[in-house]
Amino acid sequence: MDKFVINGGEKLCGKLQAQGAKNAVLPLLAASVLTDEQVKIRGVPQIRDVENMLHILTEVGCTVKRQKDCAVIDSSSAVSHEIPTRLTKELRSSVFMLGSVLTRFHRAKISYPGGCDIGLRPIDLHLSGLKRLGVKIVEKDGYIHCEAQRLQGADILLDFPSVGATENIILAAVKAEGLTVIRNAAKEPEIVDLQHFLNAMGANVRGAGGGTIVIEGVKRLHGVDYTAMGDRIEVGTYLVATAICGGEIETSGVPAENLAALLHKLRENGCKIHTKNDKILLRSDGRLTSVDLVETMPFPGFPTDLQAQYAALCCTARGSTLIMENLFETRYRYAAELKRMGADITVRGRAALIRGVEKLHGACVMASDLRGGAALVVAALNAEGQTTVTDIAYIDRGYADLEGKFRRLGAKIKRVRI
Ligand code: EPZ
Repeated sequence: MDKFVINGGEKLCGKLQAQGAKNAVLPLLAASVLTDEQVKIRGVPQIRDVENMLHILTEVGCTVKRQKDCAVIDSSSAVSHEIPTRLTKELRSSVFMLGSVLTRFHRAKISYPGGCDIGLRPIDLHLSGLKRLGVKIVEKDGYIHCEAQRLQGADILLDFPSVGATENIILAAVKAEGLTVIRNAAKEPEIVDLQHFLNAMGANVRGAGGGTIVIEGVKRLHGVDYTAMGDRIEVGTYLVATAICGGEIETSGVPAENLAALLHKLRENGCKIHTKNDKILLRSDGRLTSVDLVETMPFPGFPTDLQAQYAALCCTARGSTLIMENLFETRYRYAAELKRMGADITVRGRAALIRGVEKLHGACVMASDLRGGAALVVAALNAEGQTTVTDIAYIDRGYADLEGKFRRLGAKIKRVRI
């Protein structure tokens, strides 16, 4: 069990190179079982969610070599269609494995990935999409048993543009017979990355990034050497931290269009932002003005994964901000912890009203999910005095070397083993 000890009040100045995107690398790793040839993925961040996905690949029989930010997967020896229960509990995005294991083995077994710290996280859209492709699904004793002797292309309309459901259906459709069309598909950049990866393996996927994705099934997929996109949520977290603390940061590896909704709000808050290619330069004097309303939406709207970090910014901005969290049911668990630091936050259901205060003060706070934990760190960097953040294993799920990167920007933060 580790904790962060943070002494707030330092400006943040320097450069940040984005880690590979967690939410791109996870489906890419799942897709690596679609071929029995070697797959090399560069830009694989050293974070817990990735390590868990690599364990899942090993447990289904793949050989996995990890070389710093690279992973080499050889799934020629993959044998099992069963996705291990204890790892499904640990990593709910293992549900992406359904589509690729079905394509590889024509059957799959996975325990029901329960809800998690931010909401119920149902998978009905995943399962209804797979059924449209001819998958027979039996849910019994907490397991999902899938059989698909022949995966048949289909026209699929998603009730909601679910990221995971879109990715799972693509992974099940790439070698199905005929054409698959996914309508009302999620438009996240991570899905565009998955399309590039699969097409580099010989697949025929078109339209990712738009609302309609077309997949022409192919007979065979071959190995690939691929570099994953940069992590827009990681970069967004550091931009918000610099906006709050004051200073100047230049990030690389994430193009501005992948963070347009956040950058728009930060400019309204009073930050000076210049962008060029994959670089974003942000300057802030730390004295921010609040915006009235922020609503989380599917891409390209304001990302739910930056809602908590942005709420920390609102706590000391001049004026009030109403946040509406439209994607997940319980994504305000960090609010009680920010209130211990002196924040003025009122949460009612999906709405949070935040009135800016002069300063937050240090406290002992507890992370309860990945992005909520990041929000506590961001708030503590600017709070008066010392803050201790416990349960930081949640944060380690998605941020590689968070304390090292913030220290290099001038923050007083250290990891203490307890
Ligand atoms: C992905 O989760 C991301 N995770 C999440 O990031 C992110 O918050 C989310 O997309 C939204 O952008 C990964 O990519 C590994 P969804 P996912 O399916 O695929 C409902 C992080 O912090 N829904 O788009 O699970 C669901 O309840 C994580 O990095 C159904 O109703 O998200 C939610 O309300 C957290 N039925 C909404 O859709 C379904 O079958 C969005 O979920 C599936 C989803």
